[in-house]
Amino acid sequence: MCIVSAETFLLWKEKQILKGGDDKSLSLLIDSVGGLSKKDLNLLKIKSETNIRLNTDLDLLESFWDKHLKFSTPIQYLSGISYWRDLKLEVSCNVLIPRPETELIVDIVSKIFKNKAENITFVDLGTGSGAISIALALANPKWNGIATDINKNALEIASRNFTNNSNQSNLKFYNGNWWDPLKNFKRKIDLAVANPPYIPRNIYKELPIEVRNFEPKNALLGGEDGLDHIKKIIQNAPSYLKEKGFLLIENHFDQSTKVKHLFIENRFTNVEILKDLSGIERFTIGRYK
Ligand SMILES: C[S@@+](CC[C@H](N)C(=O)[O-])C[C@H]1O[C@@H](n2cnc3c(N)ncnc32)[C@H](O)[C@@H]1O
Repeated sequence: MCIVSAETFLLWKEKQILKGGDDKSLSLLIDSVGGLSKKDLNLLKIKSETNIRLNTDLDLLESFWDKHLKFSTPIQYLSGISYWRDLKLEVSCNVLIPRPETELIVDIVSKIFKNKAENITFVDLGTGSGAISIALALANPKWNGIATDINKNALEIASRNFTNNSNQSNLKFYNGNWWDPLKNFKRKIDLAVANPPYIPRNIYKELPIEVRNFEPKNALLGGEDGLDHIKKIIQNAPSYLKEKGFLLIENHFDQSTKVKHLFIENRFTNVEILKDLSGIERFTIGRYK
């Protein structure tokens, strides 16, 4: 805990931004490490004579900021925290930093299943930090959720994130390759969602340093054309989904037509491509027969 005058703090902040970086990242650092939200920051500018409390001293905050500027380390990995929807999630280099566009998966699902009382079994394949599965489990306490990942370290984080964000018990965690850990759930799944690794190899090589050097490669790279994992998920889905069960997959901006064909080839019906808030064809959804 550290107490400084608002004036000192605002001068410190100005000094940091003059070194480089952007205001959004600095505010995120101040919030997630210092404990001072963007709203508190805006109030400070009005009441600059007050004192403020920070969770940490300015030297430590500055050392994080310097590291971010020098190595391009994402703020979320420095603080160990990522905000996603209304969740505060622990993250480490074992999990992808959950992206804003992925938040829409939760809204799409809410629109499909308007009646929250329904007894639904859902699975989030490749859960990473647990973002999607935790949001779905919290929004639908009567549903039974399953979250899988091939990375045991990621699953540990996801499981902690669930415990830290709720007192519910409707989400279970399984380790393994896509559907493999779900042998006991054959033809029992109402809804499967996945944000699998889908970046094509040539695009992966060109990703910004903050992604390529820090985020887990096996969470991003989807083989030569990016479709390796998407194909496996779609091809095996019929063994696990109930009749008329839903499969919803996030894909790269230019993959949706191919993904739609994969759904149709595997006997899915009502296949639709859905756009994200930037108008990008980001999701493909279908029902098994
Ligand atoms: C793009 S990340 C998505 C993470 C999280 N669902 C999200 O949206 O932020 C893909 C996830 O799939 C996992 N994954 C990669 N290969 C896998 C496999 N063969 N089986 C299961 N999970 C896998 C990765 O460990 C990673 O957590």
